[in-house]
Amino acid sequence: MSTPRKQVRLAAHFPGVNNTTVWGDPAAGSHMDLASFAHLARTAERAMFDLFFLAEGLSLREHAGHLHDLDVVGRPDAMTILAALSAVTEHIGLAATLTTTYHEPLEVARQLATLDHLSDGRAAWNLVTSTDAVSGANFRRGAYLPYDGRYDRAQELLALADRLWAQGPGPFDTTGRQVTLRGEWDLDTPPQGRPVILQAGDSDAGREFAAAQADAVFTRAGTIPEGQAFVTDVKGRLARYGRRPEDLLILPGATYVLGDTDEDAREQAAHVRRQQVSGPTAIVFAEQLWNRDLSAYDPDGPLPDVDPVEGEITIAPGSIPARAFSGKRHETVEQLRALAAKDGLSLRDVMVETRARHSFVGSPQTVADEIDAQVQADACDGFILVPHLTPGGLDEFADRVVPLLQERGSLRTEREPGTLRERLGLPRWTPEQGAAGA
Ligand SMILES: Cc1cc2nc3c(=O)[nH]c(=O)nc-3n(C[C@H](O)[C@H](O)[C@H](O)COP(=O)(O)O)c2cc1C
Repeated sequence: MSTPRKQVRLAAHFPGVNNTTVWGDPAAGSHMDLASFAHLARTAERAMFDLFFLAEGLSLREHAGHLHDLDVVGRPDAMTILAALSAVTEHIGLAATLTTTYHEPLEVARQLATLDHLSDGRAAWNLVTSTDAVSGANFRRGAYLPYDGRYDRAQELLALADRLWAQGPGPFDTTGRQVTLRGEWDLDTPPQGRPVILQAGDSDAGREFAAAQADAVFTRAGTIPEGQAFVTDVKGRLARYGRRPEDLLILPGATYVLGDTDEDAREQAAHVRRQQVSGPTAIVFAEQLWNRDLSAYDPDGPLPDVDPVEGEITIAPGSIPARAFSGKRHETVEQLRALAAKDGLSLRDVMVETRARHSFVGSPQTVADEIDAQVQADACDGFILVPHLTPGGLDEFADRVVPLLQERGSLRTEREPGTLRERLGLPRWTPEQGAAGA
């Protein structure tokens, strides 16, 4: 008998306040109506996805010392949306991103336990440790937590939540470096024991935390060799915590553009990329890289003729892309200059080419092939797909790519019974595992 194919895990990311979302398309809908969230979640559910996923943004973003001009809308509260979705879906996992930096330990533990009960064991938590001054100002303690303390607090907060979920109603107390609390816990153990834990954070500390504690990692998509290197690094850390490689799923975020043919898809992707990178967006992208004010430059003109500034990030302190360029700003700018010179590109053209690349572009067959190839090559375990249109951006994927993945046996055609944790093949969490990771 042949061994069964490795299964592709799929999650649907509701897009939102960022340039991935094509706001101007006539088919673009509301980012606030329950109908939009329900449409995407139900589409993902009928397409046998494992998870519906919401990011978190606790304020509009900061850029150049003030609120990001391009942010036209914030993100509504994830737990409230997921509670509503638990009533209009039956099987799909419901994942909320919640930062441990600002949320209170009891609040997070109660919300997740409640969602797990309401949804019969479908709750998931994407644990992030973000810290930015603008979000911090919305919270009582402000941006009090130094970068180095964030994973300490994450660890203590999760350890407390684990204890509360396991113990059921009764008194508790905990003393830590970041979390010291004594109180009464009032909820029964959630159906999953522990909701599924995702982690998103690429630093060494983030990877170690994931190896010790997470069920899945939300990371960036790349080539097959890049994915394999990430998997080898992160899964290679699991043995230290008594865990097996299959106990942690690696799920890169990925975008896609489909067409009837590969050529058609390439044309559409070029069109979508230009919509995603307006002139003002191109300037913001350039400022994240140059780390200095470039507002005087014309996006349709040549690349700025000034040098980038290494060192402290002043222009977009909380931004992940701005951080990602650290230490290699000069080198990256030189690469962009070479690209612009070779193809005669404007600043905006260069940003369209380099900052809005889609992960998968092609006919349904090509996209299904590429997704499956990444998973079968162990470059990841599946993808968190980010459509560029809300709420209908997943429809075509569900109708045209999913059946091809099913035909080749890489995606189930029927739901397994059980909780989200059981369906993902993840072990039930035990208190000993938490102790090993502490
Ligand atoms: C793929 C990915 C998705 C993320 N999504 C969010 C998010 O929705 N909200 C948020 O506040 N931070 C998000 N983050 C950022 C993390 O909060 C932050 O970068 C991380 O926790 C910092 O840890 P690190 O130093 O280990 O990277 C995301 C990070 C990655 C890599």
